[in-house]
Amino acid sequence: MSYPKDFLWGGATAAYQCEGAWNEDGKGLGEWDEFSHKSPLNLNGATGDISSDFYHRYKEDIDMMVAGNQNTYRFSISWARILPEGRGEVNPEGIDFYNRVIDYCLEKGVVPNVTLFHYDLPNTIALQGGFANRDTVDAFVEYAKICFTAFGDRVRLWCTINEPKYYAYCTNMVGNYPPNHRQDFNRFFKVVYHEALATAKTVAAYHEMNLPGTIGVVHDNSNVELAPQTKEKELIKLRGDLFYNSMTLDTALKGCLPASLLLMMQENGFDTSYMKFEDSIAFAKGKVDWLGLNVYNRFYLTDYSEGETEVFHNNLGARSKMKEGIRIKDWFETTDDPTTHRNLWGREIYPQCMYNTLVEIRNTYGDIPVYITENGHGQYETADENGYVDDQPRIDMMQSYIDQMYKAMEAGCNVRGYYAWSPMDLYSWVNGYEKRYGLVRIDFDNPDLPRTPKKSYYWFKNLIADYFTNKAGR
Ligand code: NOJ
Repeated sequence: MSYPKDFLWGGATAAYQCEGAWNEDGKGLGEWDEFSHKSPLNLNGATGDISSDFYHRYKEDIDMMVAGNQNTYRFSISWARILPEGRGEVNPEGIDFYNRVIDYCLEKGVVPNVTLFHYDLPNTIALQGGFANRDTVDAFVEYAKICFTAFGDRVRLWCTINEPKYYAYCTNMVGNYPPNHRQDFNRFFKVVYHEALATAKTVAAYHEMNLPGTIGVVHDNSNVELAPQTKEKELIKLRGDLFYNSMTLDTALKGCLPASLLLMMQENGFDTSYMKFEDSIAFAKGKVDWLGLNVYNRFYLTDYSEGETEVFHNNLGARSKMKEGIRIKDWFETTDDPTTHRNLWGREIYPQCMYNTLVEIRNTYGDIPVYITENGHGQYETADENGYVDDQPRIDMMQSYIDQMYKAMEAGCNVRGYYAWSPMDLYSWVNGYEKRYGLVRIDFDNPDLPRTPKKSYYWFKNLIADYFTNKAGR
C-alpha cells in the first residue's frame, strides 16, 4: 500500500480549554464560565479564565507547532465569542480573532481544522436547556452559518460537534459537566438526538453554500468489545453499540436512526416524543463527508450482574481508586480486562482499540475518510529546573496507538490525519491543570506562562519527518 502524501499531522485544542480571555473583547458568558466560577462541583477549583492564554499567544503556539513539523491544527470556535447572547447580534471582535488565527495558520502552511462546538454553550442557550431544547438546533445552525460565511473561504475542514455522546454523557449521566444532571437517561438520549439533528442540518446548510471544503463530526471512540465470559454476546454488543455509538454514527454516516434503537428505548419506557418523523429527511440530507475519531479507549462490556444503575467516574486522579465505567440495570456493565493497564484517572489504555475501531468503522459504514482527531495521554508531570519534562510514558502510549493506526491503514482503512491531544498544556475540564496532556509544557504558576517543549514534542517532530521521508516518500 502507499501512505498518503498529504497526510495531516498536528495537534488539537478546544476554545475554553486554551483561550483564556473569558470576558475580553465582547465575548459573552459561557456555561463553563458560570460553572467554574460558582459550582461546588468544580472539584479542583480551576477555571479557564486565563488557561494557556492562547487568545493572546496564538502566534507563539502556532510557531511551535510549525517548528515541530506539524502541518495542521484542530481548534474550536467559542460560540459565545461570536454570538455573545447565543443568537442575534454578532461580535465583530470575535470574528476578528478567529480570522487572525486562521490567517496565521495559512501563512505558516498549517491546515486549520475547525470545530464549531466543543462542550462550551453560551450561557443564555444553556439557561434555556441547551441541547435538551429543540430550539438549540436552530440556534446552532444559525451560528454555524455565520462561521461558514466569515471563514468558509479559507477553512477547508469543518467539524460540527466534538464528542456529542461524551458531552451528553458527562452533562446528564456522570453529572460532572454543567448542567450536572445525574443518571438522567431521558435527558442523555434527548441531548445526543438533538446534537445529531444539529449536525445533520448544519452539514446540509454547509453543502448548500457550495464552499470549497468538507465537513464532519467528531465522535469519542467507543468501539464495544466483549469480555470472554459474556453469555449474551450478540445482545450485549447490540445494546452497547446502540447506547454508545448509533445515534451519532448511524445518523451522520448512514443518514438514519436504527429502528432497533427506537425499539430499545421504547421497550425500556424512555421518552421518544421529541423525535419527529420529519427529522428523517434532515438526517438523510445531512450525511457528513468525513468522520473524526478521538481515540483513547474502548468499551469493554459484559452481562449485567446485579444492583442498581451506577456510573463510575474519576476526576480526582491518584486521589481516587475509581475506575471509569457504568452498570446499566438489565442491559450491560463495563468490566476489567486483567491484561491491560489504566491511567491514574481510571481509564483503560488499550492501543489495539485504534486498529479495531478503524476496521469496524470501515466494515460497518464503508470507505469514509477518517481523521484521528485526538489521541494522547494524561498524566501528572514535574519539570526539571529548565522547565523540561521527560514524558516517556506519553511517547510510549502514543507510539503504540500510532502503530495500530498504521496497521489499520495497511489493512485498507482510509485514515487521513492524526491530531495529538494536545499541542501544549491546557485546562482539562473538571480535572483542572494537574492532569497534563501537552507536547509543550506551560508553567501555569508563572504569570508569564512560559512554554517549554517536552521530550514528546521532539519525538512527534521526528515521527512526522520519518513519515514523510520513509512512509509516504517510498
Ligand atoms: C476529549 C475532549 O475532546 C477534550 O476536550 C479532552 O480534554 C480530551 N479528550 C482529554 O480527555
